[in-house]
This record gives sequence, C-alpha cells and structure tokens, in this order.
Amino acid sequence: MTNSPTPESLGRHTDYGHDGLIESDITGHPLDHFAQWIREAEAAEIFEPNAMVLSTIDPDGRPSSRTVLLKGLETGSTPEHPFGALEFVTNYESRKGRALLKNPQASVLFPWYAMKRQIIITGVVEPTEPVLSDSYFDRRPHGARLAAIASDQSQPVDTRDELDVRMARLEADFPDGTHIPRPEKWGGFRLIPATIEFWQGRSMRFHDRLFFTRQPDGTWTRERLQP
Ligand SMILES: Cc1cc2nc3c(=O)[nH]c(=O)nc-3n(C[C@H](O)[C@H](O)[C@H](O)COP(=O)(O)O)c2cc1C
Repeated sequence: MTNSPTPESLGRHTDYGHDGLIESDITGHPLDHFAQWIREAEAAEIFEPNAMVLSTIDPDGRPSSRTVLLKGLETGSTPEHPFGALEFVTNYESRKGRALLKNPQASVLFPWYAMKRQIIITGVVEPTEPVLSDSYFDRRPHGARLAAIASDQSQPVDTRDELDVRMARLEADFPDGTHIPRPEKWGGFRLIPATIEFWQGRSMRFHDRLFFTRQPDGTWTRERLQP
C-alpha cells in the first residue's frame, strides 16, 4: 500500500500554461490541422505520437477502449476519401473487430499529455479493401506478420508457452524472406470522421476546445466549447 498514489499526489493541480488555441489557428480543413498537430507531436518526440485510444460499443451497448496505432491518414483531398479517413489495422475477430463489424460507430482519442493537447475524432468505420489490408500486412516486420497469424486476439489462452510454440512452428514454416500470406482474420479499418475536437490545455483549467462537425456536403462547421 505504501506505493499507492496519495490523495495529495492525485489531487495535485498542474498548471497547463498559456499557449491557447484560437479560431484563426484553424482556417483550413480541420484534418489538415490534425495532420499538423501529429507532425508537432512527432517533433516533440513524444512516445508513439500515432497511438490513439479507440472506443467501440458491443451489440449489448457496452463500451470498451484500447490503444491502436494510426497507420494511414487521408486529409480529404482525394476523390476516394472526400471526407478524410483514419486507418488502423487489427484482428477482425478480436473484441474490437467483432464490435465494429456489428456497430461501426467509433471514437479515437489522441492523448498527447506532454503537449497539453488532446484530439477526439468520432465517426463510422468500414473494413479497408483486401488489397489495402495486404499492403499494410506486407509492410509489417516478419515477426509481426507471424504474430498476427499466431494470435487469436482477445481469446483466452492457457499459457504463454502455448503461444510461443505456435510462433516457433510458424517461424519454421515461414523462414525469414519467405512470403507470408495475410490471414483473413487480420486487416484494416477506415474511420470516416464526423466530428473532430481539438483541446489545448491552458492556465487555471480554463482550456480551449474547438469542435468541428462535418456537414452532409462535406464542409465543416466550427464551435467553441466551454472547457
Ligand atoms: C501503444 C500500443 C499500440 C497498439 N497498437 C495496436 C494496433 O495497432 N492494433 C491492435 O490490434 N492492437 C494494438 N495494441 C493492443 C491493443 O491495445 C489491444 O490490447 C488489442 O488490440 C486487443 O484489444 P481488444 O481485445 O479490445 O480487441 C496496441 C497497444 C498499445 C499499448
């Protein structure tokens, strides 16, 4: 118990500084601004700046969250993705995969605490085309491709050994340099953004929030939300 956080440590009030976010900072497409914040997070060398907390809802209405990595970003400038797109890869039979295939509503949250920034994007997901999933799979390191085959993600397993034995068999079947076909259970999802919120921490918990909503014609409206 001695290592538990104390009421004092949990109750601390760190001041988030003065750098604000004003309306004129985001004049173009909000996804362009999102791309700029990712570049700034990369430049600030925060760990895994493309990590995002993905929340889904299962058929019983129960929410669940977990981290995934943003693997592709379309900012809305291409005819294929006029509303923009955020792509990530996972196992379609995992808890999140099953939830999303039943209910495509999703939210992703980028928690850039070190920068006193947060972005939340909501929308609807769709599985990516098999050829695109193939190209994401082929870009994974050899071991990560085998791990995607070996793991029945989210299913219980008796021991770690069982997983290691599966991996050893796959390593024997697919030595380094051999082609590894993508398993059907693994692939990409594409989130089509419907709302985007930029949050910038400021002094005295009086933060800035700019909230964008996509309109049916693809344009975005902006509101300032109270902190
Ligand atoms: C930094 C980080 C990155 C991760 N990236 C992914 C990812 O891109 N895809 C994925 O399926 N799981 C990723 N995971 C693991 C997930 O958070 C999660 O444990 C796993 O996908 C199973 O989730 P589920 O049971 O809710 O489906 C990542 C975890 C961390 C901490």
